[in-house]
Amino acid sequence: MTTTIDGARIARDIRARVAERVAETAACGRVPGLATILVGDDPASAVYVAAKRRAIREAGMRDFHRHLSRHASGDEVAAVIDELAADPDVSGILLQLPLPAQLDAATLIDRIPAAKDVDGLTTASAGRLARGERGLRPCTPSGVIELLDAEGIELRGACVAVVGWGELVGRPLAQLLLRRGATVTVAHEFTADLAAVTRPADIVVVATGVRGLVGPEHVKPGATVIDVGIHRTPEGLTGDVRAAELDGIASRITPVPGGVGPMTIAMLMVNTLRAAEWNAVPKTVPA
Ligand SMILES: NC(=O)c1ccc[n+]([C@@H]2O[C@H](COP(=O)([O-])OP(=O)(O)OC[C@H]3O[C@@H](n4cnc5c(N)ncnc54)[C@H](O)[C@@H]3O)[C@@H](O)[C@H]2O)c1
Repeated sequence: MTTTIDGARIARDIRARVAERVAETAACGRVPGLATILVGDDPASAVYVAAKRRAIREAGMRDFHRHLSRHASGDEVAAVIDELAADPDVSGILLQLPLPAQLDAATLIDRIPAAKDVDGLTTASAGRLARGERGLRPCTPSGVIELLDAEGIELRGACVAVVGWGELVGRPLAQLLLRRGATVTVAHEFTADLAAVTRPADIVVVATGVRGLVGPEHVKPGATVIDVGIHRTPEGLTGDVRAAELDGIASRITPVPGGVGPMTIAMLMVNTLRAAEWNAVPKTVPA
């Protein structure tokens, strides 16, 4: 029998714990705050930013939002980032991607100080992750790790296949898993025989952006399958995995929607709280 991993419930629990902690820090006069920056009018980005802002407010944190015109120049966006970086009430800064074509995302992302990089996407945060130093980790891969932990799935010594080597998900996830003692194999678009890589794995994580890529031919009986992909179709949201075909084969599987997606927002809340705690300066100078 295949169990569906309830990412929505696990995410709700995490968000409730964050809200409790926020209430405690607020009682000490410090309220964490997230600044979201949206450039342009991409409808999907607007929906994602609205969901993040709603979650921030629900957690009791402060919601700082900036909406810039789709014609904004690099200097204008940089000035907004610099202003938020200097604001002690702003714990974290999130620059919603993708950006309009005239803007260089990598340069602007790197303008966010690592201490406020709640998306974990700056070069500094990536370097800290690679070296195992304290830092803010990208939300989706850390959400995958939280899901596996919440399900009580042992990572140390587990054989994990990560399908997809993208900067947002696959690459940081492989590093997080290695740090947890898993044996990690990474497959990508040039992998000659995907099934040969994924079939030995105890855990298969798929983050490729290729709808329905992984099916029963790729998964050994009893394995756990985590589907990171999100595709909007006329029938609703679906993932990179043919989930129905894995029923009775996988031991556990994440649904789309309701699996990894809610975890991404929950981990953004965790990162904002963490950034606020790490950046906290004493309100008074100790005697
Ligand atoms: N659930 C969430 O919250 C969330 C968050 C971020 C991304 N995503 C989804 O995760 C997916 C991956 O995102 P990304 O930003 O890492 O993508 P990306 O485009 O940066 O990387 C895709 C990776 O998949 C690999 N790939 C492509 N075709 C393949 C194939 N046929 N076989 C094996 N590997 C193949 C590529 O080599 C590449 O490494 C997307 O579907 C995205 O929508 C979901």
